[in-house]
This record gives sequence, C-alpha cells and structure tokens, in this order.
Amino acid sequence: MPNIIVVGAQWGDEGKGKIIDILSKYADVVARYQGGHNAGHTVVVNEEEFILHLIPSGILHREKICIIGNGVVIDPEALIEEIEGLENRGVAIKDNLFISKNSHLIMPYHRILDRESERSKGVKSIGTTGRGIGPAYVDKMARIGIRMLDLLEPQIFREKLEANLSHINNLLHTIYKTDRLDIEEIISKYMGYVERIGIYITDVSMLINKFMKDGKSILFEGAQGTLLDVDHGTYPYVTSSNATAGGACTGLGIGPTKIDGVLGVSKAYTTRVGGGPFPTELKDETGESLRTKGREYGATTGRPRRCGWLDTVLVRYSVRINGFNGIALTKLDILDEYPEIKICIGYKYKGKIYDEMPHEHSVLWGCEPVYEKIEGWQESTIGIKAYKDLPAKAQAYIKRVEYLVGVSIDIISTSQKRDDTIIKRNPFKDY
Ligand code: IMP
Repeated sequence: MPNIIVVGAQWGDEGKGKIIDILSKYADVVARYQGGHNAGHTVVVNEEEFILHLIPSGILHREKICIIGNGVVIDPEALIEEIEGLENRGVAIKDNLFISKNSHLIMPYHRILDRESERSKGVKSIGTTGRGIGPAYVDKMARIGIRMLDLLEPQIFREKLEANLSHINNLLHTIYKTDRLDIEEIISKYMGYVERIGIYITDVSMLINKFMKDGKSILFEGAQGTLLDVDHGTYPYVTSSNATAGGACTGLGIGPTKIDGVLGVSKAYTTRVGGGPFPTELKDETGESLRTKGREYGATTGRPRRCGWLDTVLVRYSVRINGFNGIALTKLDILDEYPEIKICIGYKYKGKIYDEMPHEHSVLWGCEPVYEKIEGWQESTIGIKAYKDLPAKAQAYIKRVEYLVGVSIDIISTSQKRDDTIIKRNPFKDY
C-alpha cells in the first residue's frame, strides 16, 4: 500500500489541509512530521470549518489513525485545547491519536524568548507566529530540550527544567528585563497535562513501521512549505524545521525506501505571511484583490497575507528539493475574474536573468520578476469537478504551469469544499 508525502510548494498556506483531508480517504494513517502549532490547516466539511494546528487533518475521518512524530514541537496546552475543541464539536479522539515520546515540548520560556527575540530584531524581525517554535528547536539542537517522555518521569522532568531555568531566568531577568519563571508553577502545570495527554504518548517509529509492515497506507502531512524550510527556504525568514519531504523520514523514524511518492501543493498564485523576500509580491490593487477574493488571512494568527502572482521559479525549485511526482493546484477559482493573469518565469537582477532559485539576499530582495502574460478565462470555475469542464483558457493556464514547473498538475481545487476538486491522478493509486 502506498505511502505518500504531501508538502507545501511555496511559503505555507497553500491549502494543504483540504488536500490532506481528501487524500485521507485513501490512507489508513495520517502522520505529521515537523513544525508545531504555528501551522493552521483549514478544512471545510459539510459547510463546517475546522482549523487544525497540531493534530493531523485526518482526524476528521473517524476511522483514521493520526500520528504526531518526533520532529514536531508540542505545546501541551495548545494540544489539549485542540483536542477539547474537536471533541466539543463531536470529533472523537481516543484510540486514534498517537504522539511520539521523542517529540520536544514547547515550554513557557520558549514563548517569551520568541517574543523578546523578535522585539530585539526590530525591522529585521522574522514575523514569527510567536508560539515559541524557534526557541524550542534551538533547545533541541543544543541538546537541552525537554521531551514528551520526560513528562512521564517527574524526577527527570524536574532536573532538566531546573538546569534550564537556572540559565534562562538569568537571561530573562538581565537581558530582557522580564520576570523570572517559577519552577513549581511550571511543574504543576505540566504534570497536570500528563493526565490529559499521557495516554497518547508512544514509540511512534515502532508503531508506524509496524503499520507499514502490515500493509497499511500512510499519508505524511507536511506543515508550512518548502520556502519556509530551515535548510532550503529563504533563510533566515523561515521556520525552524525541515518542512520539505526529507523531514518526513527524520521526523517520524522511517527510512526513505518506504516512501512511494511526493505530492506538492501550490496555490494558483503566491502568498506569504511574515517578513522576508517575496519577488512577485503585489503592493497594489491586484494584490489587495487577491487577498480579498482568496480570504488571505492567517489561520493561526489572523495576519493579512502578502499576495502576488504565481512564481514558477519557486515552484520549480520546490519540485527539485522535494522530488514531487505531481502538484495539487489550489484556489484556481480565485483567478476566475481577472482579464489577464501573470506568471513569473524568472527574476531580473542587474541585467542578469535568473531562472533557477537564487539564494543571495541581494538578488532575492532586489530582483524584478519577469512575467509571462496569460489571457484570463473570466468565467466561474467554482465547484467544477472534471477537468474537461474547465474553461479552455483555464486549461491552457494549467498546461503552461505544468510545462514551466516540470511536473503534472494532478489535483485542482475549485473551492474550499471537500467535493469541489478535480482529481486527474490520485497519488495513492497512480504514483
Ligand atoms: P515561526 O514558525 O513561528 O517561527 O515563524 C517563522 C516564519 O514562518 C514566519 O514568517 C511565519 O509567518 C512563518 N510560518 C510559520 N508557520 C506558518 C504556516 O503554517 N503558514 C505560513 N507561514 C508560517
């Protein structure tokens, strides 16, 4: 049974939630491998909107197993809030959720350090979600992180926290001039969380490998997007994890030989939230209209997203980094009314044309996009479910994008709703 990774091909917010929700039907297990509650995956089921931050979108299918891997950083308070929010809306979460023992905990000081470090950067701030994600990964790499399994051994939890606080309280007090944190308060809070989430903590690598051995299909759910990946994104304006396909192996404890295919998800235009370079950003009426029509406001923070035309330099780069077999193109309907649509095919900087993703700051910040103009179709594509029913000009747009990015567009989303989707090739059947 196939195992498929779904990855964002841009700067996150590509509509992965809906695509994962649709594909969950063909998988037995949905597993999240990186990031934290900085993510916001929106899924609409029977007119009802769900926004998931940590729990895999597969949870909306009652019989699916959902896994949170070791590569994810978890704020237990946010997780409990999400579990309770879903349960209150009738979504059962009991024996179908598993959390890796080795996933790292977001601690109260991580949130404070995230906020203070952003404040100290001033205009150069990254525009993080303020959830403590970066500082939690810093501790993981510095080998002072506190993990899920430490919650189950109170003495070890106390010792690790004591060691961390002795240093962090000095930092908070002397550098950031904030109050010191009280160890007993944190311990009592975190031990309280164990009662609520202790039952889900397990050895996820063992579990997922057993599922694969038993012939079950796994859908690996990436959060954020390729250009936010800490290694391959527009560093330092990135998140602190590997959002790209490779992260699925390290973030869950599985081998690359177990992966059968990778699907990239890209919007039919581009958005970005937070700081950092964005060559096709439109700071004019067209950018504003994309934001309004596409309801481009962050699912986690509510911040307005920066908007622009589709950038095929970025998406082609994502194809290379992730080895996409194909792409799911979302929000095609948002382009319905434009008489002319632009596609970025390269960047121009100091007289030179770049058609491969540059990493130099000077180029990324200073370049001008080179556009190709496409005639708009100017009719509604909302709710179209068969490729042949798309206007000929919309088909031409899709074909042109396929040519420019170098892989086929296998899924096309024509509204937020689950059913408003064209599936030309199903990754679980055709990859
Ligand atoms: P952090 O992940 O909170 O550290 O934020 C780092 C950067 O990633 C900021 O620009 C955030 O806006 C961006 N970011 C983090 N998570 C998401 C997401 O799920 N969608 C879009 N942008 C995100």
